[in-house]
Amino acid sequence: MTTQFIGKENFTIHTQTVSESCPSNIALIKYWGKYDNQIPANPSVSYTLNHCKTNTSMEFLANEPFSVQTFLAGNEEVKFAEKIEKYFRNIEPYLPWILKGKYIIRTENTFPHSSGIASSASGFGAIAKCLMALDEEFSGKTSEEESLKKASFLARLGSGSACRSLYNGLIVWGETEEVEGSSDLFAVQYPDAEIHEIFKNFNDWVLLIHEGQKSVSSTVGHGLMNTNPYAERRFQEARENFVPMKEILKKGDMESFIKLVEHEALTLHAMMMMSDPAFILMKTGTLEVINKIWDFRRETGLPLFFTLDAGANVHLLFPSNGSEEKIKTFIERELLQHTQKNGVVKDVMRF
Ligand code: DP6
Repeated sequence: MTTQFIGKENFTIHTQTVSESCPSNIALIKYWGKYDNQIPANPSVSYTLNHCKTNTSMEFLANEPFSVQTFLAGNEEVKFAEKIEKYFRNIEPYLPWILKGKYIIRTENTFPHSSGIASSASGFGAIAKCLMALDEEFSGKTSEEESLKKASFLARLGSGSACRSLYNGLIVWGETEEVEGSSDLFAVQYPDAEIHEIFKNFNDWVLLIHEGQKSVSSTVGHGLMNTNPYAERRFQEARENFVPMKEILKKGDMESFIKLVEHEALTLHAMMMMSDPAFILMKTGTLEVINKIWDFRRETGLPLFFTLDAGANVHLLFPSNGSEEKIKTFIERELLQHTQKNGVVKDVMRF
């Protein structure tokens, strides 16, 4: 147990409803593999998105027997409620009042439910923020900084990548010498002064290549790293990647940024293929889009590139500068045809 975030024993509960919103994020250096208690095997860094969000309202009915009811876009979700119940029991040391009431949680995503865009990051981020809002009511106010840090700590215990969604900008989770104050327990903002302007105005258009359930969940995927013969090498490489990343971000070196980010995405999927049992989350459309992006870059030299999360969708990354319109036209004309239903979610980074 982490003593730093243990909750106050003095609290007064009452029935209360709180509402919070939290964005999703997309990793550039990936978290893939973890130890007990949601400790990441390597540090990761992500961009927080702007439009892809989860909005959550949490009704706490004080002194009722502990139970959790959840609704996603108005529909009751029993499986999700069971997951949240387990999560609340797990985090009781940090919020000692948490099991002393009944919860009705209503949550909705601003992005399509079946899109395959990770909702666990924004979902657990929003839940952690609601819990901290209740904690403030019951145990007294803390500084905004402390409250956010604890929300990030709590979100991590729900879903690792969620801890990065609490902050805007470029966010680091996992201890690395390259980022001061970084921790395995919560996320921190990458220092703004160390980021070249070119990386602060970025688009992320998510091509919805395959909508619907993934064949292997992230949690199972992380678990398979325990027996993956390449795991240690991968964790080391991710740690090492922070060294060039720091230089790249400072100098505004777009070419090296593109190379590193695409390498990270492909490594993530290579790890899946090297797992036992092996699995592949990319679809034909994913590969077609990747090849078209490479051809487009070769022909035009324009900075359009990709990253992937644990699914088939392709995150198209490109800076907002003079070349934006040409890139957008190319996406609409050449890449949209590889999606299932012309599905694209047009987002930007949140700074
Ligand atoms: C590929 O955070 O969804 O998106 O901690 O088991 O909930 P759990 O996993 P999760 O894993 C995300 C993996 C990833 C890479 C990343 O976001 O860094």
